[in-house]
Amino acid sequence: MSDYQTFIQSIKKKTGIDLSLYKEVQMKRRLTSLRDKKGYKDFDAYFQALKNDQALMEEFLDKMTINVSEFYRNSGRWEVLEKKILPDLLQNNRKLKIWSAACSTGDEPYTLAMMLSQYVDLSQVSILATDIDDRILDRAKQGIYSDRALKEVPNNLKKKFFTQQDNAYVIDDKVKRAITFKKHNLLSDPYPNNFDLIVCRNVMIYFTEEAKAAIYHKFNQSLNDDGVFFVGSTEQIFSPEKYNFKVLDTFFYQKTTS
Ligand SMILES: C[S@@+](CC[C@H](N)C(=O)[O-])C[C@H]1O[C@@H](n2cnc3c(N)ncnc32)[C@H](O)[C@@H]1O
Repeated sequence: MSDYQTFIQSIKKKTGIDLSLYKEVQMKRRLTSLRDKKGYKDFDAYFQALKNDQALMEEFLDKMTINVSEFYRNSGRWEVLEKKILPDLLQNNRKLKIWSAACSTGDEPYTLAMMLSQYVDLSQVSILATDIDDRILDRAKQGIYSDRALKEVPNNLKKKFFTQQDNAYVIDDKVKRAITFKKHNLLSDPYPNNFDLIVCRNVMIYFTEEAKAAIYHKFNQSLNDDGVFFVGSTEQIFSPEKYNFKVLDTFFYQKTTS
């Protein structure tokens, strides 16, 4: 077994994270560059160090989970959500159950809450937001953002829901209260269910084809009948019917009952 294969087995034992389900070329490149930067000659030496050094382990976990996010990421797609998908979903049910999976710093679930506040009272909104990374969830709960993360937020919502503090923007407590943040590993944890809308964007690209197929099935099971699955703008599903989905709009899939 190669040095890298042994490493991913040891990481799985130590952290529960199965790196073999992430695309190998990209992941290996990223981790090799980190390992070299830290001065370890091979993955075995790197793992021996990681085992005994919490800070080093946290840096490693930070690097393997890519946390880039922003509000209204690919804003054209969010417009479709706002103008077409949400009004349809809200016609049947005013209290939608929504899951933002792999939510990173919270930009995505907070975007959802602000958008929904235009249709229903925020006290009626309940969004589950999950990620594998504890530290990123802590940041998400704080809700403090740079100007750059907010560049696509419509001005009226920016004024209504953010307070500026020096160079940062703090999200309003009313929006925060609409979100429940929880740790969840898409590759190994049981999936919650009964959702009307699942948003999972810009994480599937890192997973192997087998891992993706398993996740599509699980998301399908997690949705209510006619529930909608919103994916990232490079992540369209090939043959969605294999997973009991039909295309509703570009990057939006609806659960079919069959
Ligand atoms: C690039 S961010 C995407 C954030 C947001 N969804 C967006 O589109 O802007 C990818 C997120 O996936 C999370 N992630 C990586 N592997 C995961 C896994 N196995 N289960 C859950 N989250 C995972 C990372 O921690 C990171 O926060």
